[in-house]
Amino acid sequence: MSEMETAPFDLLVIGSGAAGMTVALGLLAQRPTARVGILSKSDLSEGSTKYAQGGIAAVLDATDSIEAHIRDTLIAGAGLCYEPAVRAVVEGAPAAIRWLIANGVVFDSEDGDLHLTREGGHSHRRIVHSADATGLAVQTSLEARLRESGAQIYENHNVVDLIRERTPSGQQGRCVGAYILDRQDGRVHRFPARTVLLASGGASKVYLYSSNPDGSTGDGIAMAWRAGCRVGNLEFAQFHPTCLYHPGAKSFLVTEAVRGEGGRLLRPDGTRFMEEYDPRGELAPRDVVARAIDDVMKRLGCDCVYLDISHRPAEFITHHFPTVHAEALKYGFDMTRQPLPVVPAAHYTCGGVITDLTGRTDVDHLYAVGEVACTGLHGANRMASNSLLECLVIGAAAARDIAEKLESIPPLPPLAPWDETWVTDSDEEVVVSHNWDELRRFMWDYVGIVRSTKRLERARHRIKLLHSEIDDYYGSFRVTSDLLELRNLVMVADLIIRSALARRESRGLHYTIDFPTLDTVAPPQHTILVPKTFAARRLA
Ligand code: FAD
Ligand code: SIN
Repeated sequence: MSEMETAPFDLLVIGSGAAGMTVALGLLAQRPTARVGILSKSDLSEGSTKYAQGGIAAVLDATDSIEAHIRDTLIAGAGLCYEPAVRAVVEGAPAAIRWLIANGVVFDSEDGDLHLTREGGHSHRRIVHSADATGLAVQTSLEARLRESGAQIYENHNVVDLIRERTPSGQQGRCVGAYILDRQDGRVHRFPARTVLLASGGASKVYLYSSNPDGSTGDGIAMAWRAGCRVGNLEFAQFHPTCLYHPGAKSFLVTEAVRGEGGRLLRPDGTRFMEEYDPRGELAPRDVVARAIDDVMKRLGCDCVYLDISHRPAEFITHHFPTVHAEALKYGFDMTRQPLPVVPAAHYTCGGVITDLTGRTDVDHLYAVGEVACTGLHGANRMASNSLLECLVIGAAAARDIAEKLESIPPLPPLAPWDETWVTDSDEEVVVSHNWDELRRFMWDYVGIVRSTKRLERARHRIKLLHSEIDDYYGSFRVTSDLLELRNLVMVADLIIRSALARRESRGLHYTIDFPTLDTVAPPQHTILVPKTFAARRLA
């Protein structure tokens, strides 16, 4: 089949998780005749959203307050949150929960009120949840709405790169669409669009051990960078403290709500240790707990620590944590009777493509919402259950902004077809699989929970070699999904390392033995990387 160009979209959504679906549904509610396309690399439901366990933070209890949720978020963010983003998202939370309920999401309730659980860093019970499978409830309900909304759905389609208009003066102008690999026919097609939204999730698969699904390869961050957008705060890679430790469990997450409901962290000899590290104990923010576990494991030379909630009644555990209970049983662990072996794993990308509070990026008509973006909400460390919330609140604001602008967008220029004349099919797929493994391992070893300048420099050196090898490969062979993901991962790994080297202090999730303390003298600085194409645009 030959390369083709689709009819132009009013909005092309790259990603079908909470962020992408919120924006698509939000726009269609305001502009029912808008032509909306939504893409997923695999099936529609595969992304981090589906796997979210704990829930969504919102102030819904009379004893809680917006100010307390803001304060907790700022404390977890270690002085680096952008306060207007925190306020906007926290204030928008109750409406976001009502919107989900109106769209069919069923949350747990107790005596007629929503049941609120507790997680690290939160000073109140404020986590709305559907047992321990909140993400599945959100994904399933919104997907059902999307399928009846009139949006065009493209599953198994990988975006290769964004397309920018060339202005009469030869500069890069607004975003006008994307090149997209159809994984079924293996061809790259043109998808013209008046507005493009990156809702492509995070980059935690850059690490060897991750709680994330395989598609979290930072594609949106890499594409936005190549298209000329600034990225921010990428050194803040969040490690979830408790993923099930078992060779078959692929870092299955054990929700923080287990600790919220009384779960205790234990050394292999059964002694508790969290209070030796932080007075908040097991409910300290994630960066603190993950580092404490890492320290215990390194000191004792043990492979894991243990999470024990077996002191609570078995019915309570199976009622609140049916998913974790069932998954752990598959590996022979009954959490109603024994502690679970747990280790930290890469979980969330706090930095990303810099946007304002309506999801606008540096490139006109290109938006980014959700884990791909950096609004400043999370600062140096995301507080539990603030992520789905950000997808919903910023997603709704983006939909309003896109709807307002739609009528005034000038017609689209013709898009150049994807040129494959110089490439052949690869006979060296081993290069891709080998480099995937190598990258993820050295990122884990050198750019993980505890860093040093020497290790970061070592990683930077490796990245340079990988970069040139992958660029060579990309220039010579027909693109495949694995190659595209690897190319993006290498790009994002480079951005993470550069950001980490630039921060000469330890703050939030970034801890380095060479600068082990917080810089209390200079005002807190965001790490903002600026691509060459951005500078060119500004200077023009
Ligand atoms: P995702 O849901 O990850 O969706 C990304 C989409 O982009 C997918 O459809 C993917 O196919 C598509 N995509 C990516 N690249 C491309 C490409 N090149 N071309 C086409 N499509 C592409 N947060 C909370 O707030 N509360 C929780 O309880 C919670 N629990 C979590 C538990 C787990 C195990 C994990 C992994 C995360 C959890 N998080 C939680 C974090 C939260 O789930 C994610 O941050 C959030 O779901 C991200 O949503 P998103 O829409 O930005 O991206
Ligand atoms: C969890 O349930 O522990 C994950 C919550 C989150 O990542 O926000």
